[in-house]
Amino acid sequence: MNTPIIDKLNDIKNSDMISFHVPGHKNGKIFDRLGYSDFKNNIVNIDTTEIPGTDNLHSPEEVIKESQDIASKLFKSDHTFFLVNGTTCGIQAAIMAVCSIKDKIIVNRDCHQSVINTCILGDIEPIYVNPDIDMKSGISLGVKLDDIKRLVEEDEDIKAVLITSPTYYGINSDIKSISEYLHKKNKILIVDEAHGSHIGLSDRLGVSAIEQGADISIQSTHKTLTCFTQASMLHVKSSRVDINRLKSFLRIVQSSSPSYMLIASIEMAVKIYKDYGKELMEELMDNIDKTNNYIKNFKNIYLYDYKDNDITKMYIITKNLNKSGYEIEDVLREKYNIQVELSNPYGILLICSIGNDKNDFEKLKQALGDIDNEIGNKDLIEIDYPNYIPQKALNPREAFYSNKKSIPIKDAVGKICAEYIIPYPPGISLLSPGEIITKEIIEYVQNCKNIGMNITGIEDRDLNFIKIID
Ligand SMILES: Cc1ncc(COP(=O)(O)O)c(C=O)c1O
Repeated sequence: MNTPIIDKLNDIKNSDMISFHVPGHKNGKIFDRLGYSDFKNNIVNIDTTEIPGTDNLHSPEEVIKESQDIASKLFKSDHTFFLVNGTTCGIQAAIMAVCSIKDKIIVNRDCHQSVINTCILGDIEPIYVNPDIDMKSGISLGVKLDDIKRLVEEDEDIKAVLITSPTYYGINSDIKSISEYLHKKNKILIVDEAHGSHIGLSDRLGVSAIEQGADISIQSTHKTLTCFTQASMLHVKSSRVDINRLKSFLRIVQSSSPSYMLIASIEMAVKIYKDYGKELMEELMDNIDKTNNYIKNFKNIYLYDYKDNDITKMYIITKNLNKSGYEIEDVLREKYNIQVELSNPYGILLICSIGNDKNDFEKLKQALGDIDNEIGNKDLIEIDYPNYIPQKALNPREAFYSNKKSIPIKDAVGKICAEYIIPYPPGISLLSPGEIITKEIIEYVQNCKNIGMNITGIEDRDLNFIKIID
């Protein structure tokens, strides 16, 4: 039998490609560097199940409880849960623990698809708060307290609020003010902190959501710390959250055979965080500062200005080269053996972690220095982010279960969308089931697709047809 997956993964591994993408352990390099090669090389030998002594993730009383308690102390929560189905399952459990069917939850419109999917699963109504968008770079600038206040004052039935902070691109919202306000109103704040598990490692990165007052935060420790892919943590610091209800939902949304390799990788990540985290983060930030200073002298390429946000993300804007980020991503991979996290029409996003070393940044500087001189000979299609606020005609669940039909996308303006349009990465939907299809959004996705955007969630990936509510 052919083994196409294993062959491809081995090809990538053997190429020694430099990783500026998740997972944060960066091809396992961090384990060798810190003297944990044994852990990495023999991980399959500790793959087991619930036998005497290994405890049970779904009702931990022994070693898993002990390890979760250590993590809880370190991450300053009342309770910490290890997750084996990613932040996705933490978001599902958190929302359904806090909201009952038909309840309303405010969520940032650029939330991860798992939030809207949870509203479908749990029959919960999302009320969207729109973040400001930087039209020239297409990224969300987080949500503002005043916008949340307005929605809460308008509708006293709102049960809770979920905010993504930091965003995929590393932009923080003011969780402290938002949580203070919501707690006065006796409402719960859940923070999707998928991209922020490393925040506690330096004052320069801000303050973790739990320390700013969030009731629940969920962190993809596989993205920005050193866990294996799919290993995440959920933290609770609140008397408002019904812990037993949360545990029941975690049992529903997680595998009944949780992987001990993933669980062990969380424990190892927590150990690395505690024993070496701050020191490694200092080193990482020094490398990032030097790279940023180097890029400042470039003629064309420039960096998004992170100010008070998460500087371990590097959003490099390449459009002055008359090239899209998609083209630059390909050049970096094919010519320089560097893989970035994602690209978009305007640039590329790099996720740097404590797993990156000085050599990674030296190679990056050299590659970007070369690329800065290579102006494209055709004009990049100027694609501004669509100036639209999606209008919801139906709740995601109603739309999901309605009869649907497929029609040519050119005839779909004004109709109710029955599927998702999700640029992937980052996995944030431009249109979700139940929203009105607009001309702006169709033109935007078609233009982006023509220059390389990967779109998921829609059956016809060529974007000739779209499903609408019949
Ligand atoms: C903002 C955000 N939230 C949640 C998730 C889901 O996280 P996971 O991949 O750990 O399930 C992602 C994944 O990319 C994300 O970007």
